[in-house]
Amino acid sequence: MTIYKEKKGLEKTLNTFKQQNHSVGLVPTMGALHNGHLSLVKQALSQNDIVVVSIFVNPTQFNNQEDLEKYPRTLDTDVALLKTVSKNIIVFAPTANDIYDSNIKSIDFNFDGLEFEMEGKFRHGHFDGVGTIVKRLLETVKPDKAYFGEKDFQQLQIIKKLVEKFKIPVTIIGCKIEREDSGLAMSSRNTRLKPEYKKAAPFVFKTLESAKVKFGTKSANEVVKWVTDQFAKHPLLKLEYFIVADVIDLKPVKRKSNKKTYRAFIAVYADDIRLIDNIALN
Ligand code: PAF
Repeated sequence: MTIYKEKKGLEKTLNTFKQQNHSVGLVPTMGALHNGHLSLVKQALSQNDIVVVSIFVNPTQFNNQEDLEKYPRTLDTDVALLKTVSKNIIVFAPTANDIYDSNIKSIDFNFDGLEFEMEGKFRHGHFDGVGTIVKRLLETVKPDKAYFGEKDFQQLQIIKKLVEKFKIPVTIIGCKIEREDSGLAMSSRNTRLKPEYKKAAPFVFKTLESAKVKFGTKSANEVVKWVTDQFAKHPLLKLEYFIVADVIDLKPVKRKSNKKTYRAFIAVYADDIRLIDNIALN
């Protein structure tokens, strides 16, 4: 397994592969890899000749300095974990100066309003940071396919919009959410949960599953009220938002239509750890 810390060396190697008509898959990550990431890597390996896994904690997508500082950085463990999956993986772990050409700033994007819903309301500038780094990674690696988890469903839709707007020649593949046995969606942040919060956290997905059942017979507003009440009674978990939205424009549903596809989205604080999750409703 080769690890590149600078884009120059990576680009040179990838050019050689591309001249031999090898297909390239990209799995962008911020490291602290878990089985959720590994499932993206496995899917990418099954659909491409070579897979690049980028490991970079992107400073421009953090609107909270403390969250950036506390974000786990575990490159050696990540590489060891990737080695257990395949030797056909290239790791790209650049420095911020290298990937940003010493200009560590976000582009001001227009994602047709997708960026202002849900996470956009609570994490100002977050999607400009995500868009900036993903655009850079796509331009550097020039993959045939790039893989993103549906846990960050809003991010996935925004990246599809980015690719469409900038006409970037890549297929974006959304991959299903990987869960722990308890139902808790896998996340690098889960390692920071204190034991009592780790025990409480599966309540998030359990509530989403019940919300899905209720959505079969009740209005979106009734489901939102029911979920809000469940969290109001919970001693440990604090609800930040619960929204039933159309998967295309991510706007909250006013009146259900059986021609549309909906998902429920949730963000919850477990102590100082922010958990997000979502579920397909129909
Ligand atoms: O989902 C993530 O881990 C990050 O937002 C991404 C896509 C790797 C960009 O930094």
